[in-house]
Amino acid sequence: MNWFVVAALALCVIAPGTDCADDSIAWCYHLPTCNDTTWPRIAAPFCNGTRQSPINIVTANAAGDASLGSFTFVNYDNTAIMNKMENTGKTVKVSLNSGAKVSGGNLSEAYDSLQFHLHWGNGSTVPGSEHTVDGTQYAMELHIVNSKESLNGNTTLAVADPSGLAALGFFIEALSDGSTGQPASWRNLVAYLENITTQNQTVSITPGISLNDLLFGVDRTRYWRYHGSLTTPSCNEAVVWTVFKDTIKISTDLIDRFATLRIGNSMSEHMVNVFRNVQPALPVSTQVSTTSGTSKTCYSLGLMALSVVLGRS
Ligand SMILES: *[C@@H]1O[C@H](CO)[C@@H](O)[C@H](O)[C@H]1NC(C)=O
Ligand SMILES: *[C@@H]1O[C@H](CO)[C@@H](O)[C@H](O)[C@H]1NC(C)=O
Ligand SMILES: *[C@@H]1O[C@H](CO)[C@@H](O)[C@H](O)[C@H]1NC(C)=O
Ligand SMILES: *[C@@H]1O[C@H](CO)[C@@H](O)[C@H](O)[C@H]1NC(C)=O
Ligand SMILES: *[C@@H]1O[C@H](CO)[C@@H](O)[C@H](O)[C@H]1NC(C)=O
Ligand SMILES: *[C@@H]1O[C@H](CO)[C@@H](O)[C@H](O)[C@H]1NC(C)=O
Ligand SMILES: *[C@@H]1O[C@H](CO)[C@@H](O)[C@H](O)[C@H]1NC(C)=O
Ligand SMILES: [Zn+2]
Repeated sequence: MNWFVVAALALCVIAPGTDCADDSIAWCYHLPTCNDTTWPRIAAPFCNGTRQSPINIVTANAAGDASLGSFTFVNYDNTAIMNKMENTGKTVKVSLNSGAKVSGGNLSEAYDSLQFHLHWGNGSTVPGSEHTVDGTQYAMELHIVNSKESLNGNTTLAVADPSGLAALGFFIEALSDGSTGQPASWRNLVAYLENITTQNQTVSITPGISLNDLLFGVDRTRYWRYHGSLTTPSCNEAVVWTVFKDTIKISTDLIDRFATLRIGNSMSEHMVNVFRNVQPALPVSTQVSTTSGTSKTCYSLGLMALSVVLGRS
């Protein structure tokens, strides 16, 4: 790895202008010369690796593992944690102020939450999640990117460590009740898109929305776990992935708004289908219990038995 690559990687996770992506590689989602089928060639050595993300999660093959306990989230209820939102030309990224952390969930230590960004298709009718579940692609996917606390934000070290980064993936699905502007937290977030319609535009986020507000409706004790990579070049195999089973549900009008953003500053090039296609299967684990607390034990066992019958826990 030469110095320029190291320097680019060092900027990758932290720098506001990037999406944990290596800008020294001219990669893209849509042109035949640089789309994801070319990444193993144009972005070797990592994009041609053997633990690449995203993957299709085959629920029947996920091995139950009792070590996959609950997480502890710090500052996820803080309504002033979001700093600014940026159109990177590849995604919408929200950088976080320092202080948000995630630990537990069998992570080896606490991880600092640095930023979140999204992947989507073309409006609510063309799905664009990165991970798929038994072949189903969801409308959108939210990624919260976290770096090992002990590495003190040194992303050169983080991307060189097989578990240097922890990514939290949340599927976003359309509400089917015909409502608009729901829930309020997402209406609030999506309202900022009008300020970042072209590449490199940023807008400061006014305090008022917490991470918990965005993760509304997701039981964060229910998840899949596997070891993979960044889903954008340089695809470093440094990511402990947690993909949550429950979806975030938002109204179709809000999903549709993402497809109005633009790549570059051209009026015609809309930022659509911004996801990497699934990569070869990897071993996936899953948590084993659906509820916690002794008072719910009987109910929980009943649910587990039912889950076994249905083939999904
Ligand atoms: C991606 O590029 C390859 C050639 O490199 C081409 O065959 C394929 O159709 C392209 N896919 C998309 C979705 O543009
Ligand atoms: C990926 O590419 C690098 C550099 O071209 C090469 O050294 C490595 O062997 C390749 N890895 C695989 C798994 O093919
Ligand atoms: C849980 O963590 C331990 C220690 O790091 C590791 O050996 C084990 O593979 C992890 N379990 C899962 C399901 O990732
Ligand atoms: C996205 O959807 C819009 C409207 O439905 C359509 O005009 C456009 O061609 C689609 N873009 C792509 C890349 O499929
Ligand atoms: C990251 O750590 C490496 C190795 O210890 C060191 O050489 C480099 O200067 C550090 N980078 C930053 C930005 O502190
Ligand atoms: C966002 O754009 C709207 C409409 O152009 C404008 O009224 C508003 O002041 C902008 N907000 C920020 C924070 O720049
Ligand atoms: C955004 O910034 C990048 C990096 O500085 C630059 O290459 C690109 O042309 C800019 N895009 C626009 C639309 O100005
Ligand atoms: Zn992502």
